[in-house]
Amino acid sequence: MRWVVNNLVEKIIELKNVGYKNILSTISLDIERGDYVAIIGPNGGGKSTLLKLILKLLKKESGEISLFSTPQDKFKDFYKIGYVAQNSVQIDTNFPATVHEIINLGFAHKTSLFTKSSEQEREYMEYLMEKFAISDIKDYQIGSLSGGQRQRAMITRALVNQPEVLILDEPNAGIDENSQETFYTLLRELNQSKKLTVIFVTHDLGRLKNDVNKVFHINKVLS
Ligand SMILES: Nc1ncnc2c1ncn2[C@@H]1O[C@H](COP(=O)(O)OP(=O)(O)OP(=O)(O)O)[C@@H](O)[C@H]1O
Ligand SMILES: [Mg+2]
Repeated sequence: MRWVVNNLVEKIIELKNVGYKNILSTISLDIERGDYVAIIGPNGGGKSTLLKLILKLLKKESGEISLFSTPQDKFKDFYKIGYVAQNSVQIDTNFPATVHEIINLGFAHKTSLFTKSSEQEREYMEYLMEKFAISDIKDYQIGSLSGGQRQRAMITRALVNQPEVLILDEPNAGIDENSQETFYTLLRELNQSKKLTVIFVTHDLGRLKNDVNKVFHINKVLS
């Protein structure tokens, strides 16, 4: 007899008939723990809007959204979801914070001015900064970095907190080949070993085709 231990499907994100303005209508989708999802579609198709609706950065106008089997209205644990926004490189260049400080914001939900991240968390942060080659520039002002360096810092920030879901809106724009490869490999490892759920908006499905198990095609409602 074989063990049947984890036969239960754990739904992490569920959308039922979600609509928003004239951009999205009756979007339904299920994302389960451990899924590696690609979201594709044309410019202006509504991909970024969809992610913002999931993250409650925009308020849906119709339909239902559940996160970790909880209606979105009642869901509080947004720290379980890491997010790298599409335009995260276009940060105000005068923003007065160093790379290190920005990455530390990844722990913001549990640390305050008076508490510190644990030794283990700091080690993981060092490991990620090393991997993304930003250790040497960690004391630089975020605004003084190149676009690609800044994007790598934003990805590190989303990962330090070890989220259960990572939502990435074209995170590779402006990142060089080497760093992209590091990123794809790390995501693959986290997806396979930790069951990290990955949601990746991309215009380059070819690069991800061996990693993803679901693809959603989003296109604006034609009116
Ligand atoms: N808050 C808003 N209110 C009204 N329209 C909006 C709003 N935000 C975005 N839009 C419009 O909604 C459409 C979808 O935009 P969105 O950014 O979601 O597309 P996208 O699929 O992410 O495109 P891209 O591949 O270029 O990133 C666009 O026509 C955009 O102008
Ligand atoms: Mg977009």
